[in-house]
This record gives sequence, structure tokens and C-alpha cells, in this order.
Amino acid sequence: MDSRPRVIIGNWKMHKTIEEAESFIDDFLASYTAVEDELIGLAVPYTLIYPSSQKAGDRPLLIGAQNINDALEGAFTGEIAAKMVKDAGARFVLLGHSERRRLYGEKNDFINRKVLRAFESDLRPVLCIGETEEEHEAEATQAVLEAQLREGLNAVSSGQAQHLIIAYEPVWAIGVGQSASPEAIQETHRFCRKILSTLYSHELAGSIVLLYGGSVNPSNASDLLSQPDIDGLLIGGASLSLETFLQIVNDRHSKNQSD
Ligand code: PGA
Repeated sequence: MDSRPRVIIGNWKMHKTIEEAESFIDDFLASYTAVEDELIGLAVPYTLIYPSSQKAGDRPLLIGAQNINDALEGAFTGEIAAKMVKDAGARFVLLGHSERRRLYGEKNDFINRKVLRAFESDLRPVLCIGETEEEHEAEATQAVLEAQLREGLNAVSSGQAQHLIIAYEPVWAIGVGQSASPEAIQETHRFCRKILSTLYSHELAGSIVLLYGGSVNPSNASDLLSQPDIDGLLIGGASLSLETFLQIVNDRHSKNQSD
């Protein structure tokens, strides 16, 4: 089997003040013991990137952004550049989250330009993909994911793809309390890896981390992580509470480390 790290990322969306973020991080790090081949991250609002990354310091918690603009800099009122979030301490960035696609009309080509900008700025992109409920019901899931991957990764080199993270989040499973079934997600992840192996070598496709997101909580996390192609989790609601986030992260039975 290919060896891939276990990656767990909390997505705080538009939540928390600086004080709340700092105390969460202190308390999280007091109860978390780092292990090999595991990465824990928090994708925070822009205002929290600097204080959170200062708080985390050299400790095993990566701070990331939830979006960037595709341009290097310029007259784009209200937008933020990759180099700015990098400068503030972000190590990774979520791109193409379904809320960005659905609420702000982001399309694959725009997301692709952001992916390239992230790599250029030494930020690790977490490319989010996923089908809507209508697409799911129309059995268009594979076609949608294939287009999101091919177009989202256009011109991404093999060297860059080594640092890529993909997050599969079926839109119909986000924030509803009920995740998709682990077996169905495993099949979808296997399909995504197959597409990746048409873009890159088989070996490289086997080393790319694939996260699942959509109503992950402490009671479904370990079943999800026991699937061979589910390498980690992108967690929204359950990452806002220290207790539930720690429960998921500290459940070390949840990934077969012999994979
Ligand atoms: P959820 O959100 O865990 O609250 O469903 C996941 C996400 O949108 O990344």
C-alpha cells in the first residue's frame, strides 16, 4: 500500500474572534500529542491567521486560509493575495470550497488559477471538489468530479502535485448532520485517484492525500478513516468545539497506520 499521512483539517468558516481562537489553540495543543505521519490543521478566517500562527509557533498545528485571490496583487477591493496570507503565517489554503462555488460563483478555471498561485507562493492548496444533490441524483457525480479535477489541476506539474491535498465534499452532505456512507465515499475516492493517475504517474497519484468532508463528527470519523483511500478529514461544524475536534483527532484507532 502507498503510505500517506493522516491529515485532519478543521474549517472554521466565518466563526471565532481572536480571543476565542487563541484559547482554542492553547487548549488544543495542551491535549494533543503529535505522532509521526499525522498533520493537523485549522483553516481560519483571515483576521485569525496571524494571531493563530503566532500562538501555534513551532508546535504541531498548521494554520491555513480559507481562500485567496488568483492575482498577485492589485486593485481588487476586499480580496486577499496568497503572499499576504503566507506572510501572516498560513501554510495551506482551502480552494474551491463548495460554499465559494455555490454562493460566490467560483468556477473551475478561476479555482485553477488560485491553485497555481498558491503553489507559486509556497502555500499548500487543499482543492475541494464535490457534486451537488441534483448532480448526485442525476448520477453525474463522476463526470462532475472528473471535470473539477482535470480543470482545477490544469498546468499543475508533478513536482507541485506532490504537495497537493484533495478534499472530496459531497455538497448534499455538508452541514446536515449525516455524512455519506464510508463505502460509497471509498468508491468515490478510488475514482478520484484513478483520475489523478491519468494526470500524473500511478505512484504520484497513490501519494496524494484525499480528505473527506461533510458532516464528520466523533461518531463517524473512525469508520470513515478506516477506508483505504480516505486519508483524512475536512471538518466544519465539529471543529468549532474543542471537545469534538479533540475527540476526532485523538482517536488513534481511526486510521490503519499500517496502510
Ligand atoms: P461540516 O462542513 O463538517 O459542517 O459538514 C464541512 C465543510 O464544509 O468543509
